[in-house]
Amino acid sequence: MKYGSNLGYALEIINLTLNSGEKIGIVGRTGAGKSSLVKVLFRLTHENTSGSILIDGQDISKFGVGYYRPQLGMIPQESSMFSGSIRRNLDPLNQFNVEEISGQQQLFGLCRVIVRKRKIVVLDEATANVDLETDKSIQELIRKEFSNCTVLTIAHRLETIMNSDRIIVMDKGAIAEIGTPQELLAKNGMFAQLVKTSDFGQ
Ligand SMILES: Nc1ncnc2c1ncn2[C@@H]1O[C@H](COP(=O)(O)OP(=O)(O)O)[C@@H](O)[C@H]1O
Ligand SMILES: [Mg+2]
Repeated sequence: MKYGSNLGYALEIINLTLNSGEKIGIVGRTGAGKSSLVKVLFRLTHENTSGSILIDGQDISKFGVGYYRPQLGMIPQESSMFSGSIRRNLDPLNQFNVEEISGQQQLFGLCRVIVRKRKIVVLDEATANVDLETDKSIQELIRKEFSNCTVLTIAHRLETIMNSDRIIVMDKGAIAEIGTPQELLAKNGMFAQLVKTSDFGQ
């Protein structure tokens, strides 16, 4: 994947299979391609992109974006709100009753995705602006609410993704390492180095 025909590859030779319900942590320095990986999943870029993504065996390029994209949940770094009540913000189409809706504004983006019960959920540095304690509560909430969902968490802090089933280390647009946290620590490669220095290059 490139952001322009005259630009270098933002993603190159990505070969990846995720299991349903898996909790995946994604780490890597700024510019490594973490957000780009998520963008191709959401089909936010299609020019200068080749290859295919299959969900449950179906090539996502065969789905209309209007049908496909609402099935995924994205929790970005900044969650937007529009005017009107919190309730309306969480449930614009008025599909849910009050008990199903949490009113905590700081967890707004997270709540919106929980309410919509998406099967695949992506958090792109969603907790970068909250303190460590809140981050921990959010991670607990995610494990509970998204236990059946496939969750991709791009992490700002290592603590955020240490309990993931598997961790992907991105580097220069490619997957440098993938495995359980224990496997990657034992491998003593890039992930182990990140843990030692706790340096995400941010
Ligand atoms: N909108 C864009 N236009 C041009 N280049 C971009 C754009 N977004 C990202 N890039 C480039 O693509 C590469 C991967 O970036 P990105 O996926 O945002 O990395 P990360 O999320 O790991 O910080 C970087 O070289 C970055 O400069
Ligand atoms: Mg990013």
